[in-house]
Amino acid sequence: MAERIVIASGKGGAGKSTAAVLLGRSLVAAGKKVLLVDADIGLNALRILTGLAQKTVYHWGDALLNRADGKDCVIGGENGISLLPAPDTPSAEYTAEGFRSLILSLDPSYDFILIDGPAGIGEGMALAAAPAQKAILLSAPDDVSVSGCAAAARRVCTCGPTQSRLIINRFRFQAVRKCRQINIDHMIDRAGVRLIGIVPEDKNLWYFGSAGLLPKASSPAIDAYSRIAGRLLGEHISLNISLLK
Ligand SMILES: Nc1ncnc2c1ncn2[C@@H]1O[C@H](COP(=O)(O)OP(=O)(O)OP(=O)(O)O)[C@@H](O)[C@H]1O
Ligand SMILES: [Mg+2]
Repeated sequence: MAERIVIASGKGGAGKSTAAVLLGRSLVAAGKKVLLVDADIGLNALRILTGLAQKTVYHWGDALLNRADGKDCVIGGENGISLLPAPDTPSAEYTAEGFRSLILSLDPSYDFILIDGPAGIGEGMALAAAPAQKAILLSAPDDVSVSGCAAAARRVCTCGPTQSRLIINRFRFQAVRKCRQINIDHMIDRAGVRLIGIVPEDKNLWYFGSAGLLPKASSPAIDAYSRIAGRLLGEHISLNISLLK
């Protein structure tokens, strides 16, 4: 049985799609079979960030409408990351129940299923969360992002997941020291969610949106996601703030 995790944030642009791909890559590097599911209908960032846009034939909406078998909608794989792309347009026929059944039918083939949810706390997020047992909430260290994250955390636990964890993204040590970003304790209190990791601001990711262009070597954010992947795998990896400086 796969561990099915929805990635949510409330506020847009918190880093959900980036987190899905980098966590997925770290879990694949650890020998796990990983399916990324794009649940952000119409935006489809994961096709670009995984570099699999050219391979896309079907999306999960085709499976829900019986135009394709669920397994045939999955692209990639072959010892790398697999992707189930999102539909390009919304439809009233894409129900949370149908989406959940589809993801559960794919579950036995994977160790982890990471579902990249849309921004907001509406029906799109409820659909994305429906198949998941766990939620990872992302927030940037600012008041607007953390209040969106708290709202998403309250909503997500009514949609399926029974456990939530927080990733503080785009953390800048110097900014926190100078009181220009809110500090870690305040963020955890405000979000009301247990922390699983902190990802620093990383200029190496600035080109990631261009066809999934990633630096080959490790970078501060990539290393942080690899530590978070280790924690998801049950390893005890301490939170070393000095690595974020
Ligand atoms: N740790 C980081 N350091 C620097 N840039 C980052 C970091 N994490 C994410 N970004 C950048 O932030 C932008 C938004 O990231 P991303 O698209 O992953 O957010 P999102 O939450 O999926 O957005 P949306 O709500 O639109 O789906 C991207 O340009 C990405 O490269
Ligand atoms: Mg996204």
